[in-house]
Amino acid sequence: MDNDIERVLYSREDIAEAAKRVGGELAHDYENKTPIILVVLKGAALWAVDVMRYMQYTEVEFIDVSSYNGGVASSGEVSLITDIKSDVKGRDIIIMEDIVDTGRSLMFMKDLLLERGANTVKTASLLDKKEGRVVDATVEYIGFDVPKAFVVGYGLDYSVEGKEFYRNLPYVGILKKSVYAPEHANLVDADITSTH
Ligand code: PRP
Ligand code: MN
Ligand code: MG
Repeated sequence: MDNDIERVLYSREDIAEAAKRVGGELAHDYENKTPIILVVLKGAALWAVDVMRYMQYTEVEFIDVSSYNGGVASSGEVSLITDIKSDVKGRDIIIMEDIVDTGRSLMFMKDLLLERGANTVKTASLLDKKEGRVVDATVEYIGFDVPKAFVVGYGLDYSVEGKEFYRNLPYVGILKKSVYAPEHANLVDADITSTH
C-alpha cells in the first residue's frame, strides 16, 4: 500500500497537530454554544473524531453527499445519499470535511442547512484545495492548504469498481500516477487535470 504513494504530504504527527490546533480554535469560538458537528461521510470520519476530542461540548450528526461516484474527477452533480437525522433549525453547524476541492459538495450542504433554518454554518476541513474551486465556497477552519495533486489517506480514498483504497492510511500522500493512470505514468503532476 505504501508503495503506491509518491510522497507523504502530511504525516500522522502533522495531522495530529492540525487537529489539535483546529479543535482548539473551535473550542474557543464555540465556548458556551451547543454546536452540531456534521461529519460528511465518508472521508471526514477520521478527521472529525480527532478534532472533536478537543471541544468541550458538541453533538454529532452525519450526512452523506457524493460528487465523485468513486472516480478520479468530480462529476459536477452532488447528490444526497443519506440525510441528517436531527432538526437543524436554529442550530450552529460545523461541517467537517476531509477536503474541499471544487466546493460543490460544501455549497450543496450549506444551502441545504440554511434553507432548513440553521443559525450558523461554518466548515472545518483537513485540506483546502483552493486551486480546485469552481464555486465560491469558503472554509473557515483549515488544516492544510493542499496543492492540486491527487491525494489519498486519512479518510481520502481512491476507489476502483466499488472497492475503496487508502482511507485507512495514517497520513496524507500523493498517489502515484502509475496507480490511477498507468498510460500517463510518464507525465509530470501538473499535466494531470483530475483532482484528489
Ligand atoms: C470527497 C470529499 C468531499 C468532496 C469534496 O467526497 O470527501 O466530501 O468530495 O469535493 P468537492 O469540493 O469537489 O465537492 P466523495 O464524494 O469522494 O465521497 P467520500 O468522502 O465518501 O469518499
Ligand atoms: Mn467526502
Ligand atoms: Mg471519495
